[in-house]
Amino acid sequence: MSRPAPLLPASGSGKPCTSAPGAGTATAAPSDGASSTSTPHARAPAASALTARHGAAPAAAAVAAAVQAARRYQALAPALIERVAAEEVSKARTHDEAVKRVKRRLHQVHGAYAGGLNRPGALAELQMAAADGPAALQEACRRLMRLHASTRERLPVIEHFYGDLFRLTGRPTRLLDLACGLAPLALPWMPLAEGAFYHACDVDGDVIAIVDRFLALWGIAHRAEIRDVTYDRPREHYDVVLLLKAIPCLEQQHRGVGRQLLAALPARHIAVSFPTRSLGGRSKGMGRHYETQLRQMIEGLSLEVAVLSYPLETVYLLSRP
Ligand SMILES: C[S@@+](CC[C@H](N)C(=O)[O-])C[C@H]1O[C@@H](n2cnc3c(N)ncnc32)[C@H](O)[C@@H]1O
Repeated sequence: MSRPAPLLPASGSGKPCTSAPGAGTATAAPSDGASSTSTPHARAPAASALTARHGAAPAAAAVAAAVQAARRYQALAPALIERVAAEEVSKARTHDEAVKRVKRRLHQVHGAYAGGLNRPGALAELQMAAADGPAALQEACRRLMRLHASTRERLPVIEHFYGDLFRLTGRPTRLLDLACGLAPLALPWMPLAEGAFYHACDVDGDVIAIVDRFLALWGIAHRAEIRDVTYDRPREHYDVVLLLKAIPCLEQQHRGVGRQLLAALPARHIAVSFPTRSLGGRSKGMGRHYETQLRQMIEGLSLEVAVLSYPLETVYLLSRP
């Protein structure tokens, strides 16, 4: 089987993941609260000065440290930052240029989607809504989902999106949501089985803290963890895996990972989706392009395909016979 063609432009193109590259591994879930404000990597400027003076290649560790020290990246999986830094240093002449390249790549991976997310504010909103009961908590979820591009686009069809899917798969008891973003906040609209378990993973610690708090407040058995799924995929069994609007982003980070995941994920059903237009609003044949790529990606994997079409998203339900 030939290697699947990339789903996006080459790494470093400056485009976000709806058409884009690069990432690492992370594990521990944050408990809650504001991002750390510590600045553990004060060595970065010294490394920069050295590089400039001696013309040596920038050091990946110093570049990663400088990026991690920036408030904006503190919630990201450290292994992701380290991996992208290791990939970018060879392409940069100076420390500062390497830092810029890494930040640009990280923006493509996650920053383009949830730029306006305020973690302490979102946690407080969920907590207050929960005190007013499930209906208020559900409304808070609807508001928060507007803050992440992927869930915002899904809101107009949220009432039936998951119902349509689980009518085909059966109500899942064990659900895995990979590169989840804020999608688990749609749980009030998901017809899951009684006593279901929800496993959510993303590289963005802010998103995971919000998801973790919500799932706890809603009262479902769950695990929400910071995890780079390009290099560290869950191995337990699931009824359904959600890989919603994530493959282009993961492929940008590690070419071929889409096929690897689809071949290896231990689930009867995998719901893969793609946007029908870019974040900037252009569609120009995106739907057909992604469908062709997906068909190539699953060639020879013996998966049955069912298609659910929505105005801004197409879902391909891949099922093992
Ligand atoms: C386009 S959004 C999709 C979010 C969600 N699945 C949805 O459809 O609402 C892509 C998500 O992938 C996450 N992501 C990017 N690279 C990742 C990686 N290597 N491992 C885990 N999550 C990743 C980003 O943080 C972002 O939340």
